Amino acid sequence: MGSVGRPAAVAAPARTAGWHRLPVARVEPLGDDAVAVTLDVPEPLAGTFAHRAGQHVTVRHRPDGREIRRSYSVCPPPGERDCLRLVVKRLGAGGFAEYATTRLARGDVLELAPPKGDFRLAEQPGAHHVLIAGGSGITPLLSMAAAALRDDPHSRVSLLYASRASGSVLLADELADLKDAHLERFHVLHLLSREAREAELLSGRIDAGRLPKLLALLGADTDAVADTDADTDTGRERWFYACGPRGLVEAVRQGLAAAGVQPARVRFELFTTGGEAWEPPARDHPARPGGRVTARLAGRTSTAAMEPGDRVVLEAVLRARPETPYSCRDGLCGTCRAKVTAGVLTMDRQYALGEAELAAGYTLACRARPETDEVGLDFDA
Ligand code: FES
Repeated sequence: MGSVGRPAAVAAPARTAGWHRLPVARVEPLGDDAVAVTLDVPEPLAGTFAHRAGQHVTVRHRPDGREIRRSYSVCPPPGERDCLRLVVKRLGAGGFAEYATTRLARGDVLELAPPKGDFRLAEQPGAHHVLIAGGSGITPLLSMAAAALRDDPHSRVSLLYASRASGSVLLADELADLKDAHLERFHVLHLLSREAREAELLSGRIDAGRLPKLLALLGADTDAVADTDADTDTGRERWFYACGPRGLVEAVRQGLAAAGVQPARVRFELFTTGGEAWEPPARDHPARPGGRVTARLAGRTSTAAMEPGDRVVLEAVLRARPETPYSCRDGLCGTCRAKVTAGVLTMDRQYALGEAELAAGYTLACRARPETDEVGLDFDA
């Protein structure tokens, strides 16, 4: 999974670089094609792997000399906030997910980079948090729901969760338990895209047109929001969070925008499904061969030359600093976020940075192409 919908405020994430080998404590099946993987975090690394609800870690998998990096939201069971648990869903043959869902076992060791990411709950006491999840997008949102209910007794949480069928609803038992523990403050609505449900509205996909009706069922009708950004009955500030594949997140953003919800009240995070077409910058459009990239990472500065065939600055930076953080290489997860310190870079498209971060000069190395011969990036900023 990759992240990220960004909060309006720019907050520098912890930029602890480096990989850590963590033993697997448990691997538990979740339905037919997913597992929950719990890692043991040794005491000396407890601070490094401390996480806030909504953050993700990157796993580095190196089969047969290849290197695969994948990001997963940290998704502790609701009663175990510090637990480093990841939910890994198989999307196709090969790759880390297939390995994790078929062969990974207790006692194996995984290489992880520390938690990062700015997808987080609004710090607004007593808010109504409206969460919209698609498939594996439930993982950061379950964690955020549990955190809001636990840490703010005046908050309210509503969850709209779209899955393919009842058998593919991830973490259904934990959601039900959380609901039972907070009957007055946590409301959940399941939508199934490939299974007929009694109420027609609850069968099919989430789209911009149906979204207001679905939210109304959760007591989060958007009619009132346009004027007040608050619940009409209680006056609670209302915040929206979406996580899932690009199509779902786009539909939610469009639907909320059409309803007049302020963009600053909508936070989102995307992940790649492997089935979606996401085009890399064109190979036949090399990015300024001969140019130079200066990169600061973990307190050390290195310089690399752009070579013919390089499309984005990350390719050059990785030659000089192979430990540079990245995961999706698709502009989705935000792992490669860096501040531009010199020159000009442009991105064709990206989903990980919010307007405030762009205005503050951040870019994504995996999508950024230099427009000047000299560019500088600070991965520590
Ligand atoms: S590596 Fe995911 S946004 Fe760049």
